[in-house]
Order: sequence, then C-alpha cells, then structure tokens
Amino acid sequence: MSEQTSSRSVSVVGLGPMGQAMVRAFLDAGVEVTVWNRSADKVDAMVELGAHRAATVAEALDANEVTVLSLTHYAAMYDVLGQAIEHLPGKVIANLSSDSPEQTRKGAEWVRSHGAQFLSGGVMSAGDNIVHPASYIFYSGPREVFDAHAELLRPLSPQEYLGADDGLAQVFYQALLTIFHPWMLAFDQATAMIDRSGHSIAEFVPFAIRSAAAFPYFMEEMSVANQNGGWAGLASLKMMVAGAQHIIDASEEVGVDATFSHTAQSFWRKAVAASEAKGEAVSTYALMRGDS
Ligand SMILES: NC(=O)c1ccc[n+]([C@@H]2O[C@H](COP(=O)([O-])OP(=O)(O)OC[C@H]3O[C@@H](n4cnc5c(N)ncnc54)[C@H](OP(=O)(O)O)[C@@H]3O)[C@@H](O)[C@H]2O)c1
Repeated sequence: MSEQTSSRSVSVVGLGPMGQAMVRAFLDAGVEVTVWNRSADKVDAMVELGAHRAATVAEALDANEVTVLSLTHYAAMYDVLGQAIEHLPGKVIANLSSDSPEQTRKGAEWVRSHGAQFLSGGVMSAGDNIVHPASYIFYSGPREVFDAHAELLRPLSPQEYLGADDGLAQVFYQALLTIFHPWMLAFDQATAMIDRSGHSIAEFVPFAIRSAAAFPYFMEEMSVANQNGGWAGLASLKMMVAGAQHIIDASEEVGVDATFSHTAQSFWRKAVAASEAKGEAVSTYALMRGDS
C-alpha cells in the first residue's frame, strides 16, 4: 500500500459499532479512510462504503500519519499495535477507546516509548450515534498534538480538549458514565414496574422525559452542595431511607428486582448511621469521597 500524504486521510483501527460510526463520519466528510480490524468481516462492510482495506496493522499505520483506535479497552491496543511496533515512529495514535485514566496514562507512555505521538479521547456520544447533536469527544494529551490534528478529527463529533494529562479525557468520560449507567438500570427497573403493574411503558415515557427536565436543576444544586461537603441533614437522610423503601415495595409488590434501590437505600442508611455517630449530618457525597 502506498504512503498517503493528504492531511484529509486517516486510518481507523477497530471496527466495532463505534469504529464503524467513525469511518462513516470520516467518509461523509470527504476524508479518505484506511481500515483494519481483527475480524475481517467488519472490514468488508467498510470497504463497501468506500474505505481502503489494510491487510495488516502495519499497512494501516503506514497509510496515514494519524491512526484512530476504537477498541474495547487499552489491553487491545497492545495486542494490535504490538503487531507493528516498528511502524510507530513518526506516527500519531489517537486512542478513542474507553479505559481507566491510569491505564490510559500507561498506554500513552508505551506508545511514546515506541516513537509515536499520542492523544487520548473519550467519546461522549448518544450510543454509537456520534452525529447526534448531544455527542462530543473529550480529548487530552499534548496541546500541540491536539491542535495539529483537531481539524482532521473534527468530523467525529464536536471536540472538548481538557488538558495535557493523558488520563484527563477518561476522568471526565468515566465520571459521566458513572451517572449514565445507574440511570440505564434505574430506567429498566422503572419501566419493568410500570409494565408489571399492567400499564403501558409508552404512556409512562413522556412523564419520565418531563421529569428529566428537572435533572439540570438538581445537578446545579448538588454541585454547589458537594463543593461544600455534600447535601446532608439528618431528617432529609431519613426521608431518603423511607423513600427508597417505598420504591423497593412498589417494585417487589409486582415482582420487579429492586436490588438497585436496596443499594441506594444502603447509602442513605450509612449516612444516617454516620451522622448519628458523629453528632452532625454526614452526606452520602462525603461517604463516597472517603472523607473520614
Ligand atoms: N458503542 C458505543 O455506543 C460507545 C459509545 C461511547 C464510547 N464507546 C467506546 O468506544 C470503544 C469502541 O466501542 P465499540 O462499541 O465499537 O466496542 P466493541 O464492540 O467492544 O469493539 C471494539 C473493537 O475492539 C476490537 N478488539 C477488542 N479486543 C481486541 C483485541 N484483543 N485485539 C484486537 N482487536 C480487539 C474488536 O475487534 P473484533 O471485531 O475482532 O472483535 C472491535 O473491532 C470502547 O472503548 C467503548 O467503550 C462506545
């Protein structure tokens, strides 16, 4: 495969749902794309759309200055780039895979030790719908590397550069997923309760969306409280324990698994116990933060 010199070309390695969405976004923006994936069938689908096939990781690296990685985790990066280490010098690796901040920092160091530049990213998308208006990508790593390649990467989603610490994109990304994952499970529990109670999920959803409009208000209020030690008050904490019990009862009365609400209740119970032991209100935020 010949060396491509156009700045409007990129390699994408890893063609799960996210990598495929990225290839489509690049192609739609007129960027030439070379692809490699461990399982070849996914490559075929992208070649049909107009991407170039790399037969090996080395070919994918050679094809462009910038290679975007979209892999399950950082462990996969070592498996993949480990096949072509001698092709890394002079290249730019933008790893947009999810992992912990510390794994990301180690990965960045490893890539640089083999002569390539590195950027990390956290894709804060609506699932794999990276063209959804709410989607954007956190980036971290050296500012000059980000600035040099921001234009090329722009078709992937709006960009939020956070800073030089390689782990930073993942700190923000994982913090946001910390909110999103419980929300997903809570939504399952709520809709199971509605369904098991003999009602229509479709009828319920508009109310859920309407109530979600209050979430920004709660986030603002709680962020102020948490910057000051967290929201606490013994009476309020006891009220949350009682409230959680009502949710547990409403779920279990109709056979819905309330494990999640039991867990929530256990935090408020812990805060009540800590508050009573200390003689002053202790917030769940302080407990989670590990304040003594
Ligand atoms: N999908 C989403 O909605 C979404 C949203 C935001 C962020 N993300 C993040 O974006 C990344 C990619 O997402 P995805 O949904 O596309 O993930 P995925 O379904 O797990 O696929 C990722 C890719 O990683 C490859 N892979 C995994 N282990 C490998 C290994 N040891 N060696 C070589 N290749 C390996 C897979 O290859 P094979 O095809 O051969 O299995 C696949 O191409 C993840 O870190 C994910 O957390 C995803």
